Amino acid sequence: MANPSLLILAGDGIGPEVMAEVKKIIGWMGAKRGVHFDVSEDLVGGCAYDAHGTPLTDATMAKAQAVDAVLLGAVGGPKYDSLDFSVKPERGLLRLRKEMDLFSNLRPAQCFDALADFSSLKKEVVAGLDIVIVRELTSGVYFGEPRGIFKEGNERVGINTQRYTESEIARVARSAFELARKRNNKVCSMEKANVMESGILWREVVQEVHDRDYPDVALTHMYADNGAMQLCRWPKQFDVIVTDNLFGDVLSDMAAMLTGSLGMLPSASLGLPMANGRPKALYEPVHGSAPDITGQGKANPIACILSFAMALRYSFDLGEDATRVEKAVEKVLADGVRTADLMGPEGGTPVSTAQMGDAVIAALDASL
Ligand code: IPM
Ligand code: MG
Repeated sequence: MANPSLLILAGDGIGPEVMAEVKKIIGWMGAKRGVHFDVSEDLVGGCAYDAHGTPLTDATMAKAQAVDAVLLGAVGGPKYDSLDFSVKPERGLLRLRKEMDLFSNLRPAQCFDALADFSSLKKEVVAGLDIVIVRELTSGVYFGEPRGIFKEGNERVGINTQRYTESEIARVARSAFELARKRNNKVCSMEKANVMESGILWREVVQEVHDRDYPDVALTHMYADNGAMQLCRWPKQFDVIVTDNLFGDVLSDMAAMLTGSLGMLPSASLGLPMANGRPKALYEPVHGSAPDITGQGKANPIACILSFAMALRYSFDLGEDATRVEKAVEKVLADGVRTADLMGPEGGTPVSTAQMGDAVIAALDASL
């Protein structure tokens, strides 16, 4: 059988730096575990704009559609802030999500024991936290029409449209319930049914899917603003949270910060199964391109490494190796290896991006 294929789109800023460490792990998987990937690389975001005048070429889009999984670093940077909206780096990422139909975005927020002191919340509130936000990723206000900036009388009006069809809500609800069954069988759905019709429909459809196909999963509903409050107050009350594109964007950043460092968190964006049974999939760290530290060897590669672990689990049925990578990361952190973003007030000497990657490789070797 042919090797599974990966397309690496390292992107902008620290993207290529953190992806270099993932490549070490891909190499390790081949050398030490006999799992070989066919890896190709291409451009997305600002670097694609620089080379081709667009943040994602049709050729790259076609490659992304053809591979088993896409690994993405990060897109964007101040250099591109003044570009026309239609060619901004972020448009490349949004095009990938939309055209690959990656409707289910899994964003785990997990607090590593070694880092519980890094949270802005009290240690007892976050220690042991392990929740997943399932964010709808291909619809809602990010894509709804009409949209634009229009002239109305003698002033301008900015318009975006929150729009959800039943089937869009049902499929992301299903993926949240399926995930919950593999975890603690608990889903909380968040919307604003008190003020938005799309929220009323969201709540109804999630409940219908539940009652019809997942009555064994405990389902609750919460207004998203209360959800934000509850995430700060006592995040451990949650297991799987399912929510729309925009609320999911905001709530997942918040959940990420609860754990101490945005630099630690991976994500998986999953679509429908392909002919080979694997889901369409893109994996990326939750953090951005961090232009302030680009090129200094300071970036934390762990979020990107853990994103690759998610690829092993969700695209390649290599759950055991995924756990091996996650445990290696845990071990390295427990040993006190720290990139600059993880330095506490007690100080010490941070390791570089490459040294962190090497430490993970050493921990992987020790796991054999
Ligand atoms: C994210 C980011 C993106 C989003 C941007 C970069 C388009 O914030 O993945 O959370 O808003 O979805
Ligand atoms: Mg975001």
